[in-house]
Amino acid sequence: MSDYRIASIPGDGIGVDVQIEARKVLDTAARLHGFGLKWTEFDWSCERYTKTGAMMPADGIEQLSAFDGILLGAVGFPGVADHVSLWGLLIPIRRAFSQYINLRPVRLLPGTTSVLGGRSGDELEMVIVRENSEGEYSAIGGRHNAGRPDEFALQESVFTRVGVERVVRFAFELARTRTSRVCSATKSNGIIHTMPFWDEIFASVAKEYPDVAAEQCHIDALVARMVQDPGRLDVVVGSNLFGDILSDLAAAVTGGLGMAPSGNINPPGEFPSMFEAVHGSAPDIAGQGIANPVAQILAAAMMLDHLGETVAAQAINATVEQVLTEGAVLTPDLGGRATTSDLGSAVAAGLG
Ligand code: NAD
Ligand code: IPM
Ligand code: MN
Repeated sequence: MSDYRIASIPGDGIGVDVQIEARKVLDTAARLHGFGLKWTEFDWSCERYTKTGAMMPADGIEQLSAFDGILLGAVGFPGVADHVSLWGLLIPIRRAFSQYINLRPVRLLPGTTSVLGGRSGDELEMVIVRENSEGEYSAIGGRHNAGRPDEFALQESVFTRVGVERVVRFAFELARTRTSRVCSATKSNGIIHTMPFWDEIFASVAKEYPDVAAEQCHIDALVARMVQDPGRLDVVVGSNLFGDILSDLAAAVTGGLGMAPSGNINPPGEFPSMFEAVHGSAPDIAGQGIANPVAQILAAAMMLDHLGETVAAQAINATVEQVLTEGAVLTPDLGGRATTSDLGSAVAAGLG
């Protein structure tokens, strides 16, 4: 029997609520499928920052490196500036563990309806492959002439050949397992250096995959297409910022933010990968017990799949579908009146 060591970081706001439900479901799956999960819980959060001045301890990354996987709730809460909380916890983990792929699959699940109306699940199924370690998310830059009329801020983007090539290649490989279509998000008409570089690398990798239909689309037109003609999209690859924005949109046009999972993946497996919902800590509904835990439960299933527990992962996905199809236990974002805990328990119970 395999035992997996899992780091749990519930974080802030609804991150805490949905993490409890994901753990409930994972523990049930582990029991039923004959493997062990050894959890270690970390209180790294904005609350910790307020008490100690740091989101995580100085050796936090070192502590996490011993785990097989990391399940993260969400990070960020009013009272601590977002760039401080996120650059103090989530972003350092992604970078230190070279989790350069952020995989964000979305699908219109049975029993739910799209805001687009009248669309089927087949039409609304895609995956955003987001570059997760460089690009527009960079600490290079600075603020100058503080408090003066000529004050300014500079923010550099970093696009490396290695960084772009590996995420683009990942997207093509993934496309081969799906419908063999890749769309690259660009903005090379307006961004003069980095985006033409991105396009050039995309075109050269595409040549190695003649069996995959490759196209590029400027991000402004692409967001319109995602709403008006989403069936044309399957694998969408984008830079860190474009991938971030596209993934909330893709979630919104399928079942909503409460339904979209993500994996921060280190493909070579030299470091632990980290799984989390696409959504944030939702301070507007935190502590009310009404957050939809499905995104976090599906992220937990992605983690099991990554660890090689494919059958258990599929069982969780199928049970989520079954509970949604039955429609008796739905949180308010899905039109129901159930609590976060009701929905988590319904999935755990449905597993067997
Ligand atoms: P958000 O995703 O937290 O919330 C956006 C909207 O979606 C809110 O109205 C919220 O109530 C709703 N929502 C989100 N998840 C939901 C769920 N599971 N069920 C029901 N409704 C849900 O985005 P935001 O408001 O921009 O950010 C809030 C905080 O979270 C900020 O501090 C932000 O920096 C942080 N954040 C963290 C992560 C992360 O840790 N991965 C991701 C995004 C945002
Ligand atoms: C996400 C979040 C983060 C990101 C923020 C909170 C830094 O929006 O995981 O999508 O932009 O990567
Ligand atoms: Mn985001």
